[in-house]
Amino acid sequence: MSRSLMSRSLRTALLASFLAGSVPALAAAPLELRPTPEIDLPFGDDIGFPAGPGSDVIASNCTACHSADHTLNQPALSREEWHAVVDKMITAYKAPITPEDARVIVDYLARVKGEP
Ligand code: HEC
Repeated sequence: MSRSLMSRSLRTALLASFLAGSVPALAAAPLELRPTPEIDLPFGDDIGFPAGPGSDVIASNCTACHSADHTLNQPALSREEWHAVVDKMITAYKAPITPEDARVIVDYLARVKGEP
């Protein structure tokens, strides 16, 4: 057997034992979502979202994957439409956002980027 074949089977064995060990560990510790605590961000409007009730919650939940501008540069939407966007981030893109935070975010967006 050549040297490279040996090391390939060793790698396969290591991968198998890694998977065997880590899968039950993941199953034993399900992801638990907690609402974002109230925090006073020191940098005001620089977070990208205009300051106001809920701006800290949207800043900490909605800037992990894209900029605040990506959200704010959308056309103004109704509350129902913002609700659908936030739902899509959670269900389609797996954003880890609690229902409590999602409500605060929809309120914020309906106020800041709501239909006139
Ligand atoms: C887990 C990653 C992730 C998080 C967190 C996230 N988004 Fe997104 N978002 C995406 C992806 C991916 C797209 C699609 C990007 C594209 O089409 O270029 C997107 C697109 C959007 C769009 C464009 C319109 C659309 O429907 O595609 C808006 C508005 C938006 N996100 C708002 C938000 C808001 C508000 C939050 C917080 C509640 C948020 N996003 C959190 C991943 C995320």
